[in-house]
Amino acid sequence: MIKPQQALHTVFKAACASAAAIGLLAANAAHAADAGKGKVLVDSHNCAACHGANLNKPVSPEYPKLAGQHSDYIYWALRQYQMGTGNPHFGRNNAIMQAQVQSLSPGDMKDIGAYVESLDGDLVQKK
Ligand code: HEC
Repeated sequence: MIKPQQALHTVFKAACASAAAIGLLAANAAHAADAGKGKVLVDSHNCAACHGANLNKPVSPEYPKLAGQHSDYIYWALRQYQMGTGNPHFGRNNAIMQAQVQSLSPGDMKDIGAYVESLDGDLVQKK
């Protein structure tokens, strides 16, 4: 016969296991970059005004082509613009881009990275 204490223990173990599983799912969901959301952000922030149609035809040579770039690189570039380094000679201190990224959360930047990577671009020769 199962003692009440043993039964409680079993219930507790089951509860812990499902809590852990839910936690894992939530953590995964929070980190999964969403290219669709990235597109909405890129459109609403008007990134194409400088980086051009599909982020692949910059309106001026001082604006880089972005389309096809790896998402991790885009994410870190945006994070660096947002943080700045306080020294105009090092890191990403570009005032134009710093202004563009102020309102973005790290999750937004991951979404933008996923969107940028999904685009066909002249920078990419083989995919
Ligand atoms: C007003 C013009 C302008 C707008 C709008 C703009 N950018 Fe930029 N972007 C620039 C310039 C200029 C640079 C190069 C800055 C430098 O020298 O570091 C740049 C650089 C970048 C880089 C670094 C690329 C690389 O290869 O290192 C990324 C990523 C980027 N922009 C993403 C964005 C995103 C995403 C948006 C919209 C949220 C955006 N930009 C909006 C002008 C703009």
